[in-house]
Amino acid sequence: MNKPIIIIGGGGHAAMLLEILLKDQRNVIAYSSPVISTQPLFNEIMWYCQDGDILSFNTNDVELVMGVGSLPNSSLRIKLYNKFKQLGYSFSTIISESALVSAHAILSEGVQVLPRAVINCTSEIQENTIINSGAIVEHDCRIGAHNHIASGAILCGGVTTGTQVHIGAGATIIQLINIADNVTIGAGATVTKDVTNGCTIFPAKNHIQQPYNG
Ligand SMILES: CC(C)(COP(=O)(O)OP(=O)(O)OC[C@H]1O[C@@H](n2cnc3c(N)ncnc32)[C@H](O)[C@@H]1OP(=O)(O)O)[C@@H](O)C(=O)NCCC(=O)NCCS
Repeated sequence: MNKPIIIIGGGGHAAMLLEILLKDQRNVIAYSSPVISTQPLFNEIMWYCQDGDILSFNTNDVELVMGVGSLPNSSLRIKLYNKFKQLGYSFSTIISESALVSAHAILSEGVQVLPRAVINCTSEIQENTIINSGAIVEHDCRIGAHNHIASGAILCGGVTTGTQVHIGAGATIIQLINIADNVTIGAGATVTKDVTNGCTIFPAKNHIQQPYNG
């Protein structure tokens, strides 16, 4: 049976998740955030001003949803996830009704698949990873924990990523590329070679060829 849900966070990412949960008729009982949410969707949801308030719920009685988003080099999402896991809480795996997830894909705890994302067959997504709106994870990919595959990114077949990787919006990773831990791929970059630990990849600057004037 589905358990009541508490969302950690009250910003834009949290609102997208809340919308998916409400469409699925899940019982969202509260959100926790240091400031009250300005997102109208949260108006009817009880607000807790500190994460510690979640501790008043037994770990078996609720499920958590990690509503804190993920940007390059920010670790809040991972810290909060690990903190509540260590305390014994579980995180819901969320899939938008408009996402296409193969029946042969494997999603771990806390994975979030947002509207119109695609995950093809035999791909695996590790815990607390976001597959954001319209991103495509092709067949046979292995996506690590705490990744953010941002909106519109394309991972061709057989791509692997380590832990805490950010693939920027609209980036393309060609087939069979391996991306190590803590890598950031800039928005719009095309990656054709393996990327080692901790690197940031910027998109190539456009080379503009001037017209030939004779
Ligand atoms: C690659 C990235 C991490 C670099 O961030 P940064 O180290 O803070 O770099 P800066 O913003 O200081 O930019 C440095 C230079 O690179 C350029 N640049 C940075 N990212 C770029 C990108 N993705 N495409 C083209 N140029 C880029 C900047 O315009 C700047 O150029 P300038 O020196 O000529 O002014 C970041 O720009 C990026 O692409 N982040 C991903 C964003 C994303 O996916 N958001 C999705 C949220 S859902």
